[in-house]
Amino acid sequence: MLSIKLQDITPKTKKTQVLCAFVTQNTAAGLDGLDPQIMQEIKQSIKEMGDTLGKTSVITTLNKLGAKKILLVGLGKKITNDSFRFAAGKIALYAKNVGVTEISIIIPKGSSAKQLLHTSQIIEGLKMSLFSFDVYKEPKKDARKLSDVTLLGPNTPQINKIITHSSKVSDAVTFTKEIANLPPNDCPPAKLADIAKSIITAKTKNSIKCTIISKNELKTKGFGGITAVGQGSKNEPKLIILEYNGGKLQEKPVVIVGKAVTFDTGGISIKPGAKMDEMKFDKCGGCTVLGIMKAVSELKIPQNIVGVIPSVENMPSSSSYRPGDIIKLYSKKTAEILNTDAEGRLILADAISYAEQKYTPKAIIDFATLTGACIIALGNNVAGMVTNNAQLAYKFKESSRNTSEEIWQLPLNDDYIDMIKSNIADIKNMGIDKAAGTIAAAAFLHQAIKNQTPWIHFDIAGVAWTQSATKYKPYNPKGATGFGVRLVLDYISKIK
Ligand code: BES
Ligand code: MN
Ligand code: ZN
Repeated sequence: MLSIKLQDITPKTKKTQVLCAFVTQNTAAGLDGLDPQIMQEIKQSIKEMGDTLGKTSVITTLNKLGAKKILLVGLGKKITNDSFRFAAGKIALYAKNVGVTEISIIIPKGSSAKQLLHTSQIIEGLKMSLFSFDVYKEPKKDARKLSDVTLLGPNTPQINKIITHSSKVSDAVTFTKEIANLPPNDCPPAKLADIAKSIITAKTKNSIKCTIISKNELKTKGFGGITAVGQGSKNEPKLIILEYNGGKLQEKPVVIVGKAVTFDTGGISIKPGAKMDEMKFDKCGGCTVLGIMKAVSELKIPQNIVGVIPSVENMPSSSSYRPGDIIKLYSKKTAEILNTDAEGRLILADAISYAEQKYTPKAIIDFATLTGACIIALGNNVAGMVTNNAQLAYKFKESSRNTSEEIWQLPLNDDYIDMIKSNIADIKNMGIDKAAGTIAAAAFLHQAIKNQTPWIHFDIAGVAWTQSATKYKPYNPKGATGFGVRLVLDYISKIK
């Protein structure tokens, strides 16, 4: 556990193992009026560091200061929305690598709004960088872990509040990463259902409810997409529903839907062997929803939010669905299956139709590792976004700038919608050849909506876990990234 405290004390007098200061415009913020010899060393180090973001330099203080060491960390040429997250991440990794258990970090002076923002970014950077997935490793003996961080800055209620808030947000990202990294043999749909139930605790039980719909009920209720994709695996499909009531009783909720294919072999249209192991990450959309639901319930967000997670394992077997099958979706539309590897849109279409009919939501937001085409189009650092609502797009673009989770909008017009028309059923689960694969998949989701409910879809195939072209960020260690958790929490905080 990492304890983060706030203290209003001059850096000079703070007794600490490592005093960390951010460097910008050739000055180390907060380090002034120290012993001349140390000031000289700081000046020299800053010169050598240049203005690379995240560059660090250590200075020994020779008992001339309360701190044993000073760690300088660069904010880069220009401070962006991601500088403090990145630089704080480097501080965390320094502490982790050296085995330091206690540090202090100077919050640079500035307007109170800036200080609040930077504090929240520092906490996200620290906490997200310290994550590592070692559940399956032999525990290291007497490994020293960073346990105490003191932020040096004005001790105001606002900053204290943001520390608690950002800690919970970051913990939700960690929660998402922890589930998303689970290997497929230990994470069938039933396990995700159990994890969803675990979000209900003594503290949250009055505001959140969890319902699991299992195989037989899915069948009788008409979830033809989830049932078809799930029928090839002995690990039965589940529809996981978390209802959080933080707003007025009658107020319409926002529904967040996430694809949770616990392993995607492609089914009968089986995938090639290379990197197939990475298809354990095909549950990342659902894991993002779990993280969001945990955060909203712990933060007591004053909104009604529902999470809907269709979960299946896509396997080839004698009971699998096949190319050529025609299935009936929850919307009552029929779908011709042309490729059993285009399974995500089938389970999501059911979940989206269900969400719209059951809740008449204010908005439906979905996250899915939906198409390889999205990686071709946008690479590993930007998620695809498709929507039927310009205002939602605008709000998410704004949130994306705040959280530095990059998104790029792709178009959806009638020509794309025509691409999924079938000759023998209402629709088909593929577009035309390889044309606009990400949009064709989105067009399939779009048809699940009947009443023009504002809907926004995020294709996180390229960003949900670190891949070959993922840009290095200390706060995104190898594996699942938890993409979308902070994005949606930022969006939710602005709903009226
Ligand atoms: N889960 C995959 C998409 C994917 C592939 C995500 C690689 C991340 C990395 C999805 O279910 C899938 O297989 N989509 C197919 C669709 C095609 C058959 C129309 C794809 O992208 O090839
Ligand atoms: Mn697939
Ligand atoms: Zn898939």
